[in-house]
Amino acid sequence: MVELTAMPSPETAHYFDHAATAPLAPEVQEAMRPYLGERFGNASTIYPLGVEAAYAVERARLQVLRALHADEAQTRVVFTGSATEAINLAHKGMVWASGRRPAHVISCVTEHSASLQSLRWLETRGEAAVTWLPVGVTGRADPAGVERALRPGTALISLMLANSETGVLHPIAEAARTARAHGVLIHCDAAQAAGKVPVDFAALGVDLLSINAHKFHGPKGVGALLIRGGVEIEPLIHGGGQEGGLRAGTENVAGIVGLGAAIELAVRLREAEATRLLGLRRRVIEGVQSRVRGVHVHGDQTHCLPSTLNLGIEDVEGPRVVALMGERGFSIAAGSACTARGTARSHVLTAMGLPEAQVAGAIRISLGRGNTASSADDLVEALAEVIDSLRRGESA
Ligand SMILES: Cc1ncc(COP(=O)(O)O)c(C=O)c1O
Repeated sequence: MVELTAMPSPETAHYFDHAATAPLAPEVQEAMRPYLGERFGNASTIYPLGVEAAYAVERARLQVLRALHADEAQTRVVFTGSATEAINLAHKGMVWASGRRPAHVISCVTEHSASLQSLRWLETRGEAAVTWLPVGVTGRADPAGVERALRPGTALISLMLANSETGVLHPIAEAARTARAHGVLIHCDAAQAAGKVPVDFAALGVDLLSINAHKFHGPKGVGALLIRGGVEIEPLIHGGGQEGGLRAGTENVAGIVGLGAAIELAVRLREAEATRLLGLRRRVIEGVQSRVRGVHVHGDQTHCLPSTLNLGIEDVEGPRVVALMGERGFSIAAGSACTARGTARSHVLTAMGLPEAQVAGAIRISLGRGNTASSADDLVEALAEVIDSLRRGESA
């Protein structure tokens, strides 16, 4: 289906913010191209151009199901405009379908703002009562905490698989076992994890799972929600009945084709890329620690993405480091790109109870296909110089 035709261009070598977004893979762009051009049909029409578009959407659905090891006959894939939309659909769709008011939901303080804000919105309207699980210094939620938080009639558990700021992995399979044992449904935000660590919908045992294409070298503006067979949710958007009535609106055929191609490619390359990126990640940590004093690695380092690294650097402000690195042609982040343009103090690191100096001096480096050993060395060199100049007050 997708052919590996080209390596990413050298311009992406100094891009170290793949957790914010990853460049479109050339193979994915090639797969999408006909649907931005001559294959422009509306997937709801019945003449050949439309049937061709509908076929492309269904093929992408199958690619998602196979890449995420979901039961093809039992699992629904609803294409959305983003992971944010998929998460909102999971939360609101489940809460509304539960018929309870307020519906009890369990989530975690370190979730992405897409989850935090969607659940807070339900809370402010009296539609949900949320128990927010804490995390310790590792950044992982305690599965026993999930069990303790359960109440009779809990409607939903919603936890992310990989944290967007630290890359730390939550124990989702354990939480799902607890959920299953108590007859509670569980949603997993896998936006950062899909394509980077094995995401096996069936083995994880979750009921709903959200992804977006742009984190695994697919296009922006397209995501998906996987729904286990037998789970009924209410739609957010009403209209023409597309996506099995769960997401009305003419399908973004090119975007959906891109998502399908991107997930298939990411899963095919995953194992080799994970080994390579883990090596680069270690190289960056060792390089920075050997060149710069007062560097802390944040979060559990045994349960984490191979690609994301969060460092706390004493005596500097993370956003200043990011700005000066930007001037040198390097893209890194200070926190989540989705919160106040990444300049707000991280709610994740704060929840982990890290000292204020480490939170203030936090930077996120997230690796991807375009990065090499030589670009990782360039990054370390530039970071050491930038931090040194900030500490001397030269760049204040
Ligand atoms: C863990 C997580 N969930 C959800 C999202 C939201 O994704 P999107 O902006 O594509 O809606 C992101 C994006 O950063 C994320 O990292």
